This record gives sequence, C-alpha cells and structure tokens, in this order.
Amino acid sequence: MVNFRVALAFVACFIVVTSAQSPKARKKPANPPARAREESEADPEITNLCPEDGYFADAEQCDKYYECRGGDIIEKLCPDGMVFNDYSPQEEKCDLPFNLDCSQRPKLQTPQPSLHCIRQNGYFSHEDPKECGKFYFCVDGKFNMITCPDGLVYNDKTGICTWPDEAKKKGCGAAEVFQFECPAVNETFGLTHPRYADPDDCQFFYVCINGNTPRRSGCKLGQAFDDVSKKCEWARKVPECAEWYKGQLTDAELDALENPPTPKPKPAGSPSRRKPQRPSKGKTVQIEDE
Ligand SMILES: *[C@@H]1O[C@H](CO)[C@@H](O)[C@H](O)[C@H]1NC(C)=O
Repeated sequence: MVNFRVALAFVACFIVVTSAQSPKARKKPANPPARAREESEADPEITNLCPEDGYFADAEQCDKYYECRGGDIIEKLCPDGMVFNDYSPQEEKCDLPFNLDCSQRPKLQTPQPSLHCIRQNGYFSHEDPKECGKFYFCVDGKFNMITCPDGLVYNDKTGICTWPDEAKKKGCGAAEVFQFECPAVNETFGLTHPRYADPDDCQFFYVCINGNTPRRSGCKLGQAFDDVSKKCEWARKVPECAEWYKGQLTDAELDALENPPTPKPKPAGSPSRRKPQRPSKGKTVQIEDE
C-alpha cells in the first residue's frame, strides 16, 4: 500500500506558504498512478499523490520509501538493516539507523539474518552478553568482529564504544567490566577524581570519576602507574612494578623507550611535516589497544 503521510504534510505546508505569498501558479500535483489509487482509499489523512518528483518516506515503515518520477510511484526498500533518510526529497539515501528517528514509522522489512548478523547491514552486539566490548559490523550479510578499546563497552543504542557507566548495558557495568570498585571517599575528595593503581596490572590505573565511577586508563608501554605519586612513571622506577615488563621487553628496549634516540636533523630544504617525537609526561593517558 502506498501512503504518503509525510508527503501530505509537505504538500499542505507548501500550499499555505505559496497561497499567502504568491497566489499565482504552483505546480500541479502529479497524477497518481492507477495502482496507488486502487489501494489506500480508507484513511483520509493519507494521500497517494506524488507531491513532486523526488524520494519520499513511507508513513509507517522506516526502511521503505517511494520514488516519484513524472507521476509514477516506484516503491523501494533500503538494504536490510538500513533506513530511509528523509532529510531531502532530492536525495535517495539509506543510512544505519543510529542518527535517524524512526519512532513515527517503526515498521521494518523482515530481517535477513546471516552468521553473527541480525540483519544484512549494521552493528550488532556479540551473542555472549559477557563479551561487553565485542560487536559485529555487518555489510551485505558479511561480518567483521570489532573489539572496543580496552575498558570500553559496545553501546548498541549509539553503535559506538563508550565507558561502561555511559553504555548502561546490563551485566557490563563498571564493576563487572573492571572487577574494580572505587573505594568509598568523602565528597570533597571525590571531586578530585582520585586515581588508583590497577591491582592486577602495573600498566593500568583507575580514575574514579566523582569518586565513584571507575574508568580504566593506561600508561604507555614501558611505564607503570605509581600509586604513591599517582602518576605514570618508568616501570623500573616503581618498586612494586620494576619487573613488570620482564619477558615482554628487554633492558635494551626499555632503555630505548626511556631515552629515545634523538632524530637526525633533516637536511635543509626538505621540511618534515611530522612533529618531533618527545616522551610524554606522566599525565598522558593512553588507552591500550591490543
Ligand atoms: C576527605 O578525605 C580526604 C582524604 O581521605 C581527607 O584528607 C579530607 O580531610 C576529608 N575531608 C572531609 C571534609 O572529611
């Protein structure tokens, strides 16, 4: 059934504007094709007229739209998993649903699932609800598994990786993801966003936002979080973490990280666009991405 609830609103608005300003000629509505006229006669709010050439959303189904061309109506469907973006009748555009509001036309085509993909296109949570930071990106029914940066949770409402306290996903709260709870502190101290060493990993630490919401952060390779100074420091200078990189980095490699070789000056005339690399200060927060 063809019904342009959205299109009708568009026409009504157009008439009001034009009649108020210029009573002269306006475009005649395109002739509805016979097929459309036969159906949808019941609802008086719904028109089957093509308001003008272009692309128009279906009134009920978010991934369905119509192309109007010289009075003909062609019914179209977005690829499975995508929805019609009706921001302009001149554009034929289907997008992933994250930034589009389908609440007024919530119907969708029947899903065509394939391995790990609930629909042919989109981002989908991992089947195992405990895999908080993993999700699938599906294109034409083919999946790619993506892992969020360490400490982040896939948020299926927005399609991006966010902090567990922001994702608010069941079973994926900060306490479950990190297995760390912020120690109770008074309010004044909480406002300083206190930091605590990760008891299981020298390279990492937790920032407790407002004293109660943990977010995991990492020091850069070769460094460890010093729970005394509350800063990242070269691991060999943090007593309880001096051996942390043993087996992963040799002493020579650690030396090189601590004292990076100064880059040779470039010959004049060929300016480099790269910034010289400098060791970061202890405050630098790096999210390790394995
Ligand atoms: C809050 O806790 C901090 C650190 O434990 C302490 O130094 C401070 O005096 C406390 N402030 C109040 C108002 O209790």
